[in-house]
Parts: sequence; structure tokens; C-alpha cells
Amino acid sequence: MKLNAEEHKMLDGNEGPATQKAMQILSTLGKIYGAKELIPVSSVQIAGVSYDNLGEAGLKFLDEMAKGGGKTRTLTTLNPAGMDIENWENLGISSEFAKNQNRVLEAFSSMGVITTCSCTPYLVGNNPDYGDTLAWSESSAVCYANSVIGARTNREGGPSALAAALTGKTPAYGFHLEENRKPHIHIHVNTPINGTYQFGALAFVISEKLNSNTKNIPYISGIPSASLEELKSFCASIATYAGLALFHMEGITPEANLYKQPTETVDISADQIEKAKLKMSSSVAYEEIDFVSLGCPHLTIKEIARIAKLLKGKKVTKEFWITTGRPIKKTADTLGYTDIIEESGAKFATDTCCVVAPIKGRFNTLITDSAKACYYGSTKNNFKTILRSFDEVVKAAIK
Ligand code: F3S
Repeated sequence: MKLNAEEHKMLDGNEGPATQKAMQILSTLGKIYGAKELIPVSSVQIAGVSYDNLGEAGLKFLDEMAKGGGKTRTLTTLNPAGMDIENWENLGISSEFAKNQNRVLEAFSSMGVITTCSCTPYLVGNNPDYGDTLAWSESSAVCYANSVIGARTNREGGPSALAAALTGKTPAYGFHLEENRKPHIHIHVNTPINGTYQFGALAFVISEKLNSNTKNIPYISGIPSASLEELKSFCASIATYAGLALFHMEGITPEANLYKQPTETVDISADQIEKAKLKMSSSVAYEEIDFVSLGCPHLTIKEIARIAKLLKGKKVTKEFWITTGRPIKKTADTLGYTDIIEESGAKFATDTCCVVAPIKGRFNTLITDSAKACYYGSTKNNFKTILRSFDEVVKAAIK
């Protein structure tokens, strides 16, 4: 891979050991993937923030980069941490975990990373434009950026995203190149799809058709409209179940009209969507639900307004986590939604989520509208899961 003079200086250590390490990571990646050059990035989003996932080994790497003089050269935010940074005790997080989580955040902060912890960076100020070059990590956000915004990013690991932040560069391969963004298969949806949980179920069905081949970029038709909330749910689910980082949706995503429909077509029926919902739900009675969570991916202010409307004057009977980014929570505070929600007994789990928080063993059965939360709730935290519509989830909390 060809490096320019500035990049060679970084690789030779002239800009400090952290920048040198970052450039080593990027040039190694570039060689592995056959990139011809590095290209500038306008935004970075780093995953692997929860101490639950990082552990001491991950923290040691961050400390070394911070002590080695690493400083961000572009707008950089974080994925969810393992706790609500301001209100962790209320979520039952131990002081030992909180101490370690804060060490992680301090290491990022000392390198100039904005410690806004959200998997929906596009809602909290890290909001790229069509055609921008990014280095993002969170799989649902990567899929959203490529598909819904029309920006360009590979799915970075935590270290390579940090390396991009400290150098301002990423290797030009994968989804940065026009030839890798073309659709391969036409998916036609023959049934109305409404609500976040149905979009999650649709992505599950499409994933089964794609056989987890990440080269199978789908061109999806038959969806007349989709809200931001529905698209973020779809992105999270298709990234989880098919490992996809890009899709095109006719009349909805900005690059869809750049390409012809692929000739191979697969139809999706209402029956298949119903079966997908059942597959993601365990056969448990509603009485067994002891954990309710909305906000995978992190909630918009519109979704929080809906929860406040449904909970007004009611009391929840189960642990109910509402997960979102800190700037959205602050808007909810200002608009009075937080008071209504907290009066009901539901809890904001800001900066974190029901998957990355250290809650394995605390609950048995999770109800959610998120297909992604169903997958990780069962595989990471051993929860039984129930997938329902957004409103049904809120109603389950007050039953
Ligand atoms: Fe976000 Fe956590 Fe879901 S990081 S996409 S809320 S698993």
C-alpha cells in the first residue's frame, strides 16, 4: 500500500508511539485487504467500550495509546459503555465495575475522544453526509451509515477505529470502493411491514435467504415507506443475522436508484415474517417476564415521547430499561418526558444497553421490540426472549 510523506512520518514514529502504532495497524490492514492507499476520514465511531467486553487487556491497550500521546484528528464518538455514566447505582451496577468503566472513559477522553456513548451516533451529533468517508465500528450504525445515509465505511474493530481517529485515515478497500456497493440479489416484500419489530423480523427473514454471505448485498423492493426508527431497527437486525453492512431499498435509500435490479429475485411473504417472530421468541408465559427493555439501537426522542405517553399516570411492575444516548436523554429531561417515565418506576439506562451492561444472571426473560436484542439477550446473557411491538412491550411492563 502506497503511503504519502505525512503517513510515512507517522509510521516512522516521528509523531509519537501511539500514532506510530495506529499507522502500523492501518498499514497492516491495508496490506491484508489489498488497499492501494489510505484515505481521509471525516468521522470515527469506536466500539468495544464496555469494560465487560474490554477487560484489563483492552484497557491496557487504551492506556498505552493514551500514554503514547495519541490524539484524535477527526470527530470521534463511542459506542455504549457498560453503565449509565451518571446513574449507574440505580441500575444495580457495582462500584468496582463503575471504577473500571470510568478508567476506560478517561483513557478515551485523554485522547480527545468525545465520550458520548451511543450506537446511534447519527442522532447525537456524529451525523455524516452522503458520500462521506468514515471509520465506524458499531454494526447497526455501519449499516445505517452505508445504506440510509449513503456514507462509506467498513465495519471497523475497536483498535482499527481508534487507529483511524489518531491518524485521520483509513485504508481504501471494501465499502469505500464503488464496485463493492452494487446489489447482488433482488428481495421483493409482498406484505405490509410496519413498526420496529416487524422491520427487525423482515431483516431476519432476508438474512436466512442470504445465507450469511456478506457479498449478497440485497436490493429490496415492495416497502412503500420506512421511518428512521424502523430503518435503525432493520439495520441492527440485518447486521446481526446476516453480518450485512449495506443494503439498498427502492425509493428509500439514496443509492438504490444508482443500480439496476439484480435478476435473481426472492419473494418475502407475511407467513415468513410471522414465523421469524416466533423463532426469535421463546415459548414462555407472559408471567415469566422479569425484564423489559426498549432502545436497541438507542431510542430517538420520538420513541421516548411515545413511552412517556403510554406510561403517564401508570406504574411499572417489572424492571424496565429505556436506553438512549446522553444528548437525547437531556432533551427528554427538558421536555418533561423523563419525569413522567421515572414517576412510573421505569429507568433510563443512558449511555448503555441491555446487551453491553454486566447483567448476566440478573434476569430470566426479556421482552423487547428489537430483533438484535433477542439475539444477544439469549446468546450473551442467556435470557429467554419475547419479540413484540413497541407498544406491547410498554404494556407488558405495566401488566
Ligand atoms: Fe446498541 Fe446495544 Fe443494541 S449497542 S444496537 S443497544 S445491542
